[in-house]
Amino acid sequence: MPHGNMPHFISIEGSDGAGKTTQATRLVERLKAAGVAVLYIREPGGTPVGEDLRRVLKSGGDINPRAELLMFEAARSEIVEKIIRPALSRGDVVVADRFSDSSVAYQSYGRGLAVAEVRDMNRFATGGLVPDLTILLDMPAHDALGRTADRDKGTAGAQRRFESEPDEFHRRVADGYRKLAEAEPKRWRVLDASLAADQVAAAVWAVVAQRLALRQ
Ligand code: TYD
Repeated sequence: MPHGNMPHFISIEGSDGAGKTTQATRLVERLKAAGVAVLYIREPGGTPVGEDLRRVLKSGGDINPRAELLMFEAARSEIVEKIIRPALSRGDVVVADRFSDSSVAYQSYGRGLAVAEVRDMNRFATGGLVPDLTILLDMPAHDALGRTADRDKGTAGAQRRFESEPDEFHRRVADGYRKLAEAEPKRWRVLDASLAADQVAAAVWAVVAQRLALRQ
């Protein structure tokens, strides 16, 4: 089992289509198999209000960037208070499929809000909770978009609020993530998400097992 000073709060970040959900799910299964008490959460969502906001955010037509940020932060505040902090207090490992770095990548680098303002909002919403380890699933923006296009074939256009942004938006988000990782190399690990899913899963496991001091 991981002990006191080990990282218990792990977030997985990356562009749409980088495979976060697949990798987060596989990581959670593997941690469970290793006997670790683990909780998977996804943002936005995870609480009743969070799920309502998720629907609005993913399908809500035109929303100005500040209102968009506030909705992500409202959902985040709910899940931090009601789900994440209690789980961390129990000593569980929490694996988050996106967390506050998504707001810096999308609402600052993507939408153009000031980085310092988005960071302030993150601090306000989370009460200062920051992941111990953040894994960036990195791949060229264009390839990641190709994957979401395949996955979303047949879904209504309105559900693709972010996916339907121009390539340039997604390039800014992907570059933004790389900048965040470079600025805080102790917290971030950057993995090549363009490899086969099994290879990415092995790389994710290697990082997490090492950081949690689990046998690999
Ligand atoms: P998600 O359901 O994770 O989409 P995907 O599975 O395609 O990655 O997240 C929904 C969208 O919300 C995604 O396009 C990224 C965006 N997002 C932000 O813009 N800011 C945020 O703070 C978060 C958490 C997500």
